[in-house]
Amino acid sequence: MKKIVIINSSPREGGNCDLLCTQFTNGASLNPDNQIVRINLKDQNFDYYREEQESDDADQAAKELMDSNVIVLATPVYFYNMSGMMKTFIDRMTPYFSQISGKDFYFLLTAAINRSEMEHTVESLYGFTDSLPDSNVRAVVYGSNVSQKGDILHHPAYQEVLELASQLL
Ligand SMILES: Cc1cc2nc3c(=O)[nH]c(=O)nc-3n(C[C@H](O)[C@H](O)[C@H](O)COP(=O)(O)O)c2cc1C
Repeated sequence: MKKIVIINSSPREGGNCDLLCTQFTNGASLNPDNQIVRINLKDQNFDYYREEQESDDADQAAKELMDSNVIVLATPVYFYNMSGMMKTFIDRMTPYFSQISGKDFYFLLTAAINRSEMEHTVESLYGFTDSLPDSNVRAVVYGSNVSQKGDILHHPAYQEVLELASQLL
């Protein structure tokens, strides 16, 4: 039994990240004991990291991460980097770094470009996990060469995500 928190940082409803996250849920749900929490950042109300911080939805999400076994980070590639929503969310986890320890991570990326050009974005996501104690990146899924909503349905990454998630027992 695992608690799995899926963070989707694309603003597009029915977009490629959205579909990959749903597919991850489908796979993880094959084990009925798994608990799955889906957080769509576009629906969350949270501020940038600031010196004087008001409490908001990012603090609630941090509690979910601290309480999880598995964390899925899904981002579209924007200008060779993660989306601004994901970056801001990661920045907001700063006060909780030491408490988000020992987690397994999965990175799900979508981009119009090919796989080799996505490495820069993958590296930036590692910038987060490398900062957390005992984190383990289990898999990186490259949804390359997808630009229109639904393109990912015809990409091998779509099946790959189902298989990865279905192995979570
Ligand atoms: C603001 C913005 C910047 C983008 N920058 C890139 C980029 O640098 N490289 C790329 O391959 N695709 C880029 N794209 C295309 C998206 O990564 C691509 O369409 C992806 O499939 C979107 O994922 P989504 O459907 O989950 O939103 C960009 C799209 C937007 C809206």
